Amino acid sequence: MRLDKLLTHAGVVSRREAGRAVRAGRVTVDGVCVRAADVQVEPAKNSVCFDGVPVEYREHLYLMLNKPAGYISATEDGRGPVVLELLPPALQGRGLFPCGRLDRDTVGLMILTDDGDAAHRRLSPKHHAEKEYAFACERPLEGLDRLEQGIELADGYRTLPCKIRQTGERSGVITLTEGKYHQIKRMFAAVGNHIVFLERIRFAGISLDPALERGEWRTLTGEEQALFCKK
Ligand code: URA
Repeated sequence: MRLDKLLTHAGVVSRREAGRAVRAGRVTVDGVCVRAADVQVEPAKNSVCFDGVPVEYREHLYLMLNKPAGYISATEDGRGPVVLELLPPALQGRGLFPCGRLDRDTVGLMILTDDGDAAHRRLSPKHHAEKEYAFACERPLEGLDRLEQGIELADGYRTLPCKIRQTGERSGVITLTEGKYHQIKRMFAAVGNHIVFLERIRFAGISLDPALERGEWRTLTGEEQALFCKK
């Protein structure tokens, strides 16, 4: 693998900065300063340092983001800011993408990765990954039994059974095993209500870290990564 690619992939510098940093003599390979960005290195064999700090190479990255309202769950979109813009520039060039979509006004747990196979498994309907959301409605909650049993949406689709725990007159926590477009909003619309707040708090056994403020992110712990990558 090229040296500049390894530096970008490790999230040390952006793709644009990598060549410049190497030419400036900031990078060593096995203790020797290397000034050519196209030098071939083997992450498992060569020890690469950037400004004297060892570069940790990982094949894939798995990040947890606390999505704020106003961001689109995409890598790019002409209609407004996307969740990828919440990451530092050095992480924006390595092919991370959001695993699943949240509406622009939905907040909370979003996993970003460059591991397409694992993301595909977690999103595949046959794996029934649980998705848990805290919600608030405009009107007092009614018709929860109908929603839990599965309800016909305006387009004729019948939802799978789900679980709802009421936490207030107009609020609760809903657990789904599917993820259709605007599903929760459309489910509550089908019982004459309107969702005014939606926050994903758990996905595939991984809970939103309460220490993360909106817009903040961290890498998944080993345990969380194992849940995400489960076969
Ligand atoms: N259901 C919705 O209606 N919106 C989301 O963002 C997620 C689930």
